Amino acid sequence: MRLRIILLLSLLTSFVRLSAENVVSIATKDISLVYRVGTDGRFYQAYLGKRLTNEADFFCLPQGAECYLTHGMEDYYEPALHVLHNDGNPSTLLKYVSHEVNPLEEGVTETVISLKDEQYPIEVKIHFVAYFENDIIKEFTEILHHEEHPIVLEKYASSMLHFSKEKYYLTEFTGDWAHEANMSETLLTFGKKEVDSKLGARANMFASPFFQLSFDFPSTENTGEVLVGTLGWTGNFRFTFEVDHLNRLRVISGINPYASQYLLPSGEVFRTPDFYFTYSTEGKGEASRRFHDWARLHQIKDGLDSRMTLLNNWEATYFDFDENKLLSLIKDAKSLGVDMFLLDDGWFGNKYPRQSDTQGLGDWQENAKKLPNGLERLVEEAKRQGVKFGVWIEPEMVSPKSELYEKHKDWVIHLPNRDEYYFRNQLVLDLSNPEVQDYVFGVVDGLMARYPNIAYFKWDCNSPITNIYSMYLGDRQTHLYIDYVRGYYNVLDRIRVKYPDLSMMLCAGGGGRTDYEALRYYTEFWPSDNTDPIERLFIQWGYSQIFPSKVLCAHVTSWNKKASIKFRTDVAMMGKLGFDINLHELSEEEREYCVQAVRQYNEMKSVILDGDLYRLVSPYTGPHTSSMYVSKSKKEAVVFSFDIHPRYGERLLPVRLDGLDPNGLYEVEEICLMKGASSSLSENGKVFSGNYLMTVGLHLFSSQELFSRIVKVTAL
Ligand code: GLA
Repeated sequence: MRLRIILLLSLLTSFVRLSAENVVSIATKDISLVYRVGTDGRFYQAYLGKRLTNEADFFCLPQGAECYLTHGMEDYYEPALHVLHNDGNPSTLLKYVSHEVNPLEEGVTETVISLKDEQYPIEVKIHFVAYFENDIIKEFTEILHHEEHPIVLEKYASSMLHFSKEKYYLTEFTGDWAHEANMSETLLTFGKKEVDSKLGARANMFASPFFQLSFDFPSTENTGEVLVGTLGWTGNFRFTFEVDHLNRLRVISGINPYASQYLLPSGEVFRTPDFYFTYSTEGKGEASRRFHDWARLHQIKDGLDSRMTLLNNWEATYFDFDENKLLSLIKDAKSLGVDMFLLDDGWFGNKYPRQSDTQGLGDWQENAKKLPNGLERLVEEAKRQGVKFGVWIEPEMVSPKSELYEKHKDWVIHLPNRDEYYFRNQLVLDLSNPEVQDYVFGVVDGLMARYPNIAYFKWDCNSPITNIYSMYLGDRQTHLYIDYVRGYYNVLDRIRVKYPDLSMMLCAGGGGRTDYEALRYYTEFWPSDNTDPIERLFIQWGYSQIFPSKVLCAHVTSWNKKASIKFRTDVAMMGKLGFDINLHELSEEEREYCVQAVRQYNEMKSVILDGDLYRLVSPYTGPHTSSMYVSKSKKEAVVFSFDIHPRYGERLLPVRLDGLDPNGLYEVEEICLMKGASSSLSENGKVFSGNYLMTVGLHLFSSQELFSRIVKVTAL
């Protein structure tokens, strides 16, 4: 049956080719991407934008720019592909050969375009996977050749997209440790702007692998044309935005080719990572919601399942704990009402006990002093208390003070003839080496074999790749950045197959790893070590542009004690709620608030984690911020509002809600109040139409510094 459909589709495709002047159209509900074969046989991008509904119009489109431009021909700007052939010729010229359309699953269609060079036996296949309902397109490229010896891949983009507009406004998400995903917008003018990473591991410490690109004028939450793109690659990435002399823009996305010439043997396929994008004509909010829906449905591990609330011991104890302290924390987790206790760094190492970040990484045996009864006692206690147990690991790394380093220097990425440079006192293991992959897999596998009740790993990665040299790769050193990531995925694949129910947190010293390929293996990620709730309002706002709240771990901690426990908890409730705090530092009343918050979070969790996000007021534009989540049925919504530092004499205007049914009637109720407090929301307890709430709005904001509210909006 499937074969018949495929045959029929390819027949149809060739019919389109003949009768439709070689047009290839890739479409989702709201987007059209149209390519044409030129009279010169090359392949051109004629259109990308709002859906063109009349196919006959495709033939009126101008030819456009070449789809996957190559180095060495008549183009003068950045190419997508640059290859050095066996005879030393650095040029490639690609011509259209054929294309096919393959239905992958309901509503998901792949179009594969084959291009070839007539002078050299090299073939490039460009894949577009269109997720029709979600308005997301995934693009990747495969490169294959039959020259006698390996060809050298100098540049090998996943995707190249062209635009010809009046103006281009790029939003990038950059920062540093504890200060991730800051949004800044720049007008692109002639020349090149690159956003990239050369960090190898912990690759997103300075820049996240996603962007927003507005056309003609800066788009807002609800208006404007915007392309939102992201690369699924947990390593060095690069986005190139280049405006040429005619004010045309090309956007090239892929692995960063920096120090990464790749020798591709004959007959082997080089597959690039996936680039995902959407094109919204209704602003950034719509683009975010498309990504959130698509990610839950198609990309994130266990994307449709719920998530566990947790108590983590990191900020409560740092390295200073023993069995008794942990046993009492497990009891705290139970009394707080969270689903899991997560044991962080510091539980391992004997010759070099992990009592600080200076040693012990690599020696994944329980420290006998801290844990005389091993993890066993803790896992058992968690089970007894009815909470799940999770544990921190950083298996790709090694401390120079460790038994692993003493035994296996050959597994460590280091320069054999130079002094070692350490980032956070550690080095990176060489995941390009299959033996090391076995070892890293063995860290998880070994723990799972001993303690099958471990339900969760927090997998950290605190160092970039430093001292770049692999003992394993020999004369192929320029493969290291790429083969490292491929090795990492090999390990994760094995874990996913053997332990399909294991949940994992992606962490890299905070948000140092935040890409959609890693999220195929991880259920969530740690956006930042900075848990000051004010900073988190910005960080979460940034990540929410591309990731659903379901994957954004947000913990209540002691950072910024000027903010009340309510304010801190309310911020964390906008993501995947957790606590990383010594509950005994809190007053009775504060603890009660937390317990109540967990209970209420559980009640609203499906709206927050699986609903539609509407960002109402940005923290970037003033002293207040607000966001809301609306269930798919539009029957329930949760609104969060925060007053950060209101100005003296400021006029407080109502905030218009969004995403509701205009004809529905909704009751408005402020929830999560501290014991004894009553709501100061003037609309509290009243009923309004969705139309009113979205047109007039609610007086959510106050003139009180560090004030927060959560408002439930329920359809009658
Ligand atoms: C990183 C993580 C933290 C914590 C520490 C432990 O910094 O981001 O959450 O796990 O490592 O060393």
